Amino acid sequence: MKRFEGKIVLVTGGNRNTGLDLVEKFVREGARVFMCGSSERSTAAGAEALKARGLEGVVSQACDVGNKAQVDALFDTIEREAGRLDILVNNAADQGLGLGGPLEMDPESILKVMNTNVKGGFQVTQAACNRFFMKQESRGAVVFLSSNTAMRAIRNRTAYCASKGAINSMVRALALDLAPLGIRVNCCAPGYIYTERWDKLDEKTKARRRLNCPLRHEAKGSDIANVVAFLASPESSNMTGEIVTCDAGCSCQHMPEDVDC
Ligand SMILES: NC(=O)c1ccc[n+]([C@@H]2O[C@H](COP(=O)([O-])OP(=O)(O)OC[C@H]3O[C@@H](n4cnc5c(N)ncnc54)[C@H](OP(=O)(O)O)[C@@H]3O)[C@@H](O)[C@H]2O)c1
Repeated sequence: MKRFEGKIVLVTGGNRNTGLDLVEKFVREGARVFMCGSSERSTAAGAEALKARGLEGVVSQACDVGNKAQVDALFDTIEREAGRLDILVNNAADQGLGLGGPLEMDPESILKVMNTNVKGGFQVTQAACNRFFMKQESRGAVVFLSSNTAMRAIRNRTAYCASKGAINSMVRALALDLAPLGIRVNCCAPGYIYTERWDKLDEKTKARRRLNCPLRHEAKGSDIANVVAFLASPESSNMTGEIVTCDAGCSCQHMPEDVDC
């Protein structure tokens, strides 16, 4: 029997990059998966990409996770189509790219990034608990995606780093409150992941990034999916409130090898 046979899984932001690998992991291990992107267009493109990978039966519906009415509508669909939910993966993220440095960025842009990454993740989790987990004998597991930048900042990404730090704190707070109810909340904190954005980088930049990694390579989406699947599975049944870093060793080093002295 496959590990997630009979399980119903929701992956937010499951329509591109790491999200596609997360959906693939759960489908290949037997789950029925629902996924959303933020818009009709991006979600439809994601559905096509999943079909191109030979993955059938994924239910896709556009849902801006920061918009409560759209979250409710997505959960109406899950209720109608599956009648339960076992695993929620909060993967959707606003990368907060191009907002500028702290001297010039619009303070309102912090709220936009927080709306997706923090409020969005919270309200999807709240809906999962109230609409499904609390009504089911076997409760549920939630896995957030944060980032190693929650602990070690990157430049000109104040809003993103702040939102990922908030996710780490929120994971611990949610885990504490939901543990007595039998609901586990954990988090995977990736470092570099290969995405379509890497395809626009020159080879020198890619090589330099890899030199930042003690293991000398960025993660594949499937590396992250393996960690998320573990945190969603009964194999981690004694874990909650954990932030599991998956970053090729970046967080354990003080400085990359070429500047270490
Ligand atoms: N890539 C990395 O190197 C890296 C490193 C550390 C952590 N992470 C984290 O790992 C996760 C996956 O990273 P990634 O690089 O694969 O992400 P990504 O390429 O930026 O994709 C983000 C996903 O989130 C969706 N999304 C954005 N805003 C949304 C909203 N308001 N409602 C619903 N969906 C929304 C996007 O959908 P649309 O297509 O509709 O925009 C897209 O599917 C993210 O949480 C990211 O922060 C990534």
